[in-house]
Amino acid sequence: MVTQSASVHQAPELSDRAFFTWQELLEERLGLQLSEQRRSFLKTSLAIRMRELGFTDYLDYYRYIRSGDAGLIEWNCLIDRVTVQETRFFRDPAAFALTRDFLTRRVHEVTRPLSIWSVGCSTGEETYSLAMMTADLLRRESDQIRHFGVTGTDVSSRALETARQGVYPARRVEMLDKRLIERFFSPQVGQYRVAPALQERVCFTRLNVLELARSPMKELDLIYCQNMLIYFRKWRRKEIVSELAKRLAKGGMLVLGLGEVVDWKMPELTRVPGERALAYLKHK
Ligand SMILES: C[S@@+](CC[C@H](N)C(=O)[O-])C[C@H]1O[C@@H](n2cnc3c(N)ncnc32)[C@H](O)[C@@H]1O
Repeated sequence: MVTQSASVHQAPELSDRAFFTWQELLEERLGLQLSEQRRSFLKTSLAIRMRELGFTDYLDYYRYIRSGDAGLIEWNCLIDRVTVQETRFFRDPAAFALTRDFLTRRVHEVTRPLSIWSVGCSTGEETYSLAMMTADLLRRESDQIRHFGVTGTDVSSRALETARQGVYPARRVEMLDKRLIERFFSPQVGQYRVAPALQERVCFTRLNVLELARSPMKELDLIYCQNMLIYFRKWRRKEIVSELAKRLAKGGMLVLGLGEVVDWKMPELTRVPGERALAYLKHK
């Protein structure tokens, strides 16, 4: 296997022309804005993949990606190399604390099953965190059996495959509260598997946020979209967030990453007060 550090030295030179060409493609297809500072990241990521395929020229590889079915298959593979998929369970404690308060109220406001969406869910940790929190709250707050569903969407098929499997290295799970581990995971050698009862409440599907208009998601009680918009241009972030907000049910909440959207407003939403998390409530 080619290691990233070995390949940095051997990566062919990425000309300005090739850099701009790739920059344009990543923005057009994924919304990713690759600044000059991330040039070496792009160079390394492309070079590693090119070497696996036997390409020595960035523009030849680009033409291959743009051509026919083989190009499309290769594009799906390249997505994993050029996106940042870092994530963890209950990643943003302030946002989850706000979410817990919101869900505790929401459980008593609606009688239908709660519907939650984790946008740009990567390998599923955020999606399962939301599912654990909701399952926990429903057990505590409701005397009847209440159903709920959490959908995780991402553009990366490989990340979604990991999410669907629901098997995580022990060190990622062992940071969680013991009570959650006992209730929602079963230990295996060096890893943990998400319990089937939790997996039943969760589904993962591929969705590019540039194509939100095609998505059937609507009437959501909670939409979570963190650590993805930071890679997009400011106008695009606002466009996406406005599209997400339309899909909230009345009284629903949209949670974003702190500082990921600035100067954005919609008449039917109110910012949830607080400096430590960024969330908006849709009017009832
Ligand atoms: C850093 S991860 C964030 C994961 C999780 N939301 C969290 O906060 O821990 C960003 C994710 O956004 C996804 N992504 C990037 N561009 C996307 C796009 N155009 N449509 C959908 N997902 C995208 C990546 O594949 C990646 O899994």
